[in-house]
Amino acid sequence: MGDRREDRFGKMAREDGFEARSVYKLEEIQKKHRLISGGMRVVDLGCHPGSWSRYALDLIGERGRLVGVDTKTPPGLRGVFLTESVFDVTPERLLEALGGPADVVLSDMAPSTTGDRAGDHYRQIELARQALTIALAVVRPGGSFVCKVFEGGEAAAFVNEARAGFGTVRRVRPEAVRKESREWFLVGTARRNG
Ligand SMILES: C[S@@+](CC[C@H](N)C(=O)[O-])C[C@H]1O[C@@H](n2cnc3c(N)ncnc32)[C@H](O)[C@@H]1O
Repeated sequence: MGDRREDRFGKMAREDGFEARSVYKLEEIQKKHRLISGGMRVVDLGCHPGSWSRYALDLIGERGRLVGVDTKTPPGLRGVFLTESVFDVTPERLLEALGGPADVVLSDMAPSTTGDRAGDHYRQIELARQALTIALAVVRPGGSFVCKVFEGGEAAAFVNEARAGFGTVRRVRPEAVRKESREWFLVGTARRNG
């Protein structure tokens, strides 16, 4: 059918009290790779409307710190939310808001899509590259990075760029990704020293 009518993940999100069905993509990654745990410092880039942040806040608990960045602020969540573009936020501000280096940087960022696959890919990969730049500046050695990618001409080069900073880099396509979508997630673990 390929339309935007509510599917089973949309229904689950509504019933579970999450802002978006995207939460089940992060949940699948988390269940497989166990990246987030109690007391961690987490950055969530492109955090609006807030389902990834809500899910991560639950995992890190009261002792953890979450800093979200988006041009729109998700309402009603604990954590620090910076209402600005990822091209304007500095690593120093993130480190200060986190109170130390991040254990995990998440990015579910996407531009408003136009349907022009190549154009959407190039706009999205710019966001993914900025997320990687931020992750390389704030993630502690051994830490992790999860980043949405739209498949296209620059994707393989992006994977190689991530490999320079993370010991293990995987391409993951969670079940909750819509069939017609070209998106997948890069999961980088074991941040290399320096
Ligand atoms: C798919 S949504 C994220 C959904 C979120 N993970 C959730 O589960 O609620 C993508 C987000 O990327 C954000 N975004 C796009 N460009 C951005 C930029 N330059 N800086 C910060 N956020 C950006 C959009 O505003 C949008 O809220």
